[in-house]
Amino acid sequence: MKFMIINGPNLNLLGIREPNIYGAETYTDLIEKIKQYANTIGVEAECYQSNHEGDLVDAIHKAYFEKYDGIVINPGAYTHTSIALLDAVKSTQMPTVEVHISAVEQREAFRQISYIREACILTITGQGTNGYLQAMDYLKNWKSGEVQ
Ligand code: DQA
Repeated sequence: MKFMIINGPNLNLLGIREPNIYGAETYTDLIEKIKQYANTIGVEAECYQSNHEGDLVDAIHKAYFEKYDGIVINPGAYTHTSIALLDAVKSTQMPTVEVHISAVEQREAFRQISYIREACILTITGQGTNGYLQAMDYLKNWKSGEVQ
């Protein structure tokens, strides 16, 4: 199985941006953690990050055309604004898990809206970077038919 792990704007600044909210781990640390965990559970994980909405749409399309088994996406602030990302997941019907490092539900009102959520099979918030690992576990089980 291979999963596409997509991170949106400003997530390349992990470790630098608001560490009180997003923690001290850098984006490089996150990729290492994801790759190691993927190895442990016997899946492949390709990691992609962009600060540009259209590039994130393209990454979702790539996951579809190249027959990935699922997507883990933290769309960053595009969570709260992007109908294009919602449509990309709806259009491709890729099994997708939405991840947020912070507990968005406990933050500002504008973070309570997630456009992409209705197209996702699960949303994980507030688990720090472990949320990405939980998302891969869930996708793996979902693909194996263990979760409906
Ligand atoms: C985030 C939460 C978003 O509201 C924010 O814009 C981000 C990161 C998170 O991982 O907690 O960039 O998606």
